[in-house]
Amino acid sequence: MEVVIRPTAERAARLVARLVADALRDNPTLVLGLATGATMEPVYAELARLHREERLDFSHCTTFNLDEYIGLAPEDPRSYHAVMREALFRHVNLGGAATHLPDGMATDVASACARYEQRIRACGGIDLQLLGIGQSGHIGFNEPLSALRSRTREKALSPVTLAQNARYFGGDPARVPRRAITMGVGTILEARRCVALVTGAHKAAILARAVEGPLGAMVSASALQLHPSCVVVSDEAAASQLSGTDYYRWTFAHEPEWQAYQDA
Ligand code: PGA
Repeated sequence: MEVVIRPTAERAARLVARLVADALRDNPTLVLGLATGATMEPVYAELARLHREERLDFSHCTTFNLDEYIGLAPEDPRSYHAVMREALFRHVNLGGAATHLPDGMATDVASACARYEQRIRACGGIDLQLLGIGQSGHIGFNEPLSALRSRTREKALSPVTLAQNARYFGGDPARVPRRAITMGVGTILEARRCVALVTGAHKAAILARAVEGPLGAMVSASALQLHPSCVVVSDEAAASQLSGTDYYRWTFAHEPEWQAYQDA
């Protein structure tokens, strides 16, 4: 794992967008894993700008989102289908059949989850997976005690997550769907590269647990410590409780792979 600290949330998001754009330019048939959440919104805005102004081409790219609420139809503006349409899909030239999210309206959820895994495999696996980290420590909707080898499945949301996401449901945690379909921790760990973006002082404690704490199911994001190619990008505020920052800053300043990103 590497940790990259940028001065602001805006610059952290811009660096993540550049990592995606460079991966897409290197491999036009990139299979891209996507995440929802407020943290990712500036990343998608920057990718939309790169498409508009620099012709970043998504026409051969395939996407898979991490999760979707159970019981929300794709037309529902609070569904992640709708959130992704508004944030990214309608602004870039992804093909009509190229975007995938779990089916929150599936009558047979277990079969829908198995099909989602099958679809990822049929596309050759995920090349680059974007991730946020929730205040519960989740990646996707893998709430505390999610098995570190879990696959796409139905999951009950934790009270911390219901409270975190209440802002999209009129501020009332009781109106947030209680269950979701999420890629499992094991599914996420199979992506060839993981890029997590974590910004804001409210994420400082959970980021320190995820990156420097013990590996364990209480903090699903700590499973990223197992991944052979994972970078965590944060702003100064989210990095404020990390203890190894001198080393992380030295690595970003000196390692060849990061030289092209110094001004990002
Ligand atoms: P946020 O959510 O970006 O809205 O903080 C991240 C997450 O819950 O994974």
